[in-house]
Amino acid sequence: MSLSRTEAELRNSLTVRLAEARARTDELFQLVRPEALYDHPIPDWHQVIFYLGHFEAFEWNLIGRDALDLKPFNPKLDELFRFGVLPSTDKPKVYSPSEWPRVEEIQRYNRQARGKVDECLRTVSLRQPPHPYLQDGYAFQLAIEHRWMHVETMAYVLNGLPYDRKVPQPSPLEVTAPPAERRLIEIPAGTATLGLKRADRATLGWDNEYESHTVEVPAFAIESHNVTNGDYLEFVRAGGYRERSLWSEDDWAWRNARGIEQPPFWTRRGDQRRCRAQFEEIPLPLSWPVYVSHAEASAYARWAGKALPTEAQFHRAAYGTPDGCERAYPWGNEAPSVQHGNFDCQRWDPAPVGAHPAGTSAFGVADLVGNGWEWTSTAFHAFPGFEPLPFYPTFSANFFDGKHYVVKGGSARTAACLLRRSFRNWFQPHFPYIYATFRCVEN
Ligand code: AVJ
Ligand code: FE
Repeated sequence: MSLSRTEAELRNSLTVRLAEARARTDELFQLVRPEALYDHPIPDWHQVIFYLGHFEAFEWNLIGRDALDLKPFNPKLDELFRFGVLPSTDKPKVYSPSEWPRVEEIQRYNRQARGKVDECLRTVSLRQPPHPYLQDGYAFQLAIEHRWMHVETMAYVLNGLPYDRKVPQPSPLEVTAPPAERRLIEIPAGTATLGLKRADRATLGWDNEYESHTVEVPAFAIESHNVTNGDYLEFVRAGGYRERSLWSEDDWAWRNARGIEQPPFWTRRGDQRRCRAQFEEIPLPLSWPVYVSHAEASAYARWAGKALPTEAQFHRAAYGTPDGCERAYPWGNEAPSVQHGNFDCQRWDPAPVGAHPAGTSAFGVADLVGNGWEWTSTAFHAFPGFEPLPFYPTFSANFFDGKHYVVKGGSARTAACLLRRSFRNWFQPHFPYIYATFRCVEN
């Protein structure tokens, strides 16, 4: 967000962006049939209905209560809906429908919270604000990005609902494509800049993106395309899920405990392998990137005699160039647009790998941003100079436990504003619900 804008321009732009993000989350709830509101498709997260109140509560708590110290109008719901993500050691409590506030009560809460947040956005000074969180609209920007993050997490939640518990949307699926020619691309030794400069107030960042630092990356080679369902099928057929030597001890224990034999979005009907797309189950599209957990990606990489890239290797391949400069996106410095990749909710499901040549990186690596987050071998950790967000100290810090891995890039459901180079996402290695794929490297 540029400081050279007038305050009125900034206010306008935040108003428009907040309205867009709200429209998108509102639409998502139109897809949930009323009887599915109390479903709990992802056991590590909350029941669907939690998210109905969470976005408004997050925004009102941050802006109205924390920054402006306004009087709460419904403190009970402020608390109930405050934080949506639990440390990995906690399981959410499951409530029966009658234990939740009635839907009409949540909707009334949401209208009130929205009204208050809107009033703040109309009236509070963003250049000489009463609280530092509001400087240049910072808290509003975080609120908008938080909503977009949940646009994606809601897609995972919806993907776990049976088809008859959601309202189908037009979702044309692209499954056929000329086979991508996978190559190993040599990336010479060089430096990668990770993170954001705290001094760079022009770009919004979450706590885990600071501080900016450079990493020396030795030469390596990376696959030009993601591993597809077709490729992964070879691993499955070769008995990869039964070969102990391909799995770490923890991953093997997880595979055995759950009896896992195939990737999470795959199903089988008789002999036919199928895939659970968002609104229909279809014959397994061999051209799509495979969505797998970190454990499954790592087992495949070992089977192929390769490895997953580190976070720094991802940066080199995506943002580095043969002449040594670094760019904002794989394709250059232009803002993301449809030809660059499958992101920003153009679709619900993946596209064939290699379908967006305009998004290829300077080194010739395809689809690094969009069409599925990419697993790295790097455990999520604080960058040097990390400081937790004062109003949400656990946002990232709860997950610096060595048990989460960084994913980079973005999926079909990742908003354009979250595609910045420094944005880091993270998940547990056995979390099977996310739109995450991978490619291999040779070191
Ligand atoms: C950054 C996507 C890992 O949803 O799990 C939203 C973002 N944290 N509300 C998540 C988040 C609190 C978080 N991820
Ligand atoms: Fe949240």
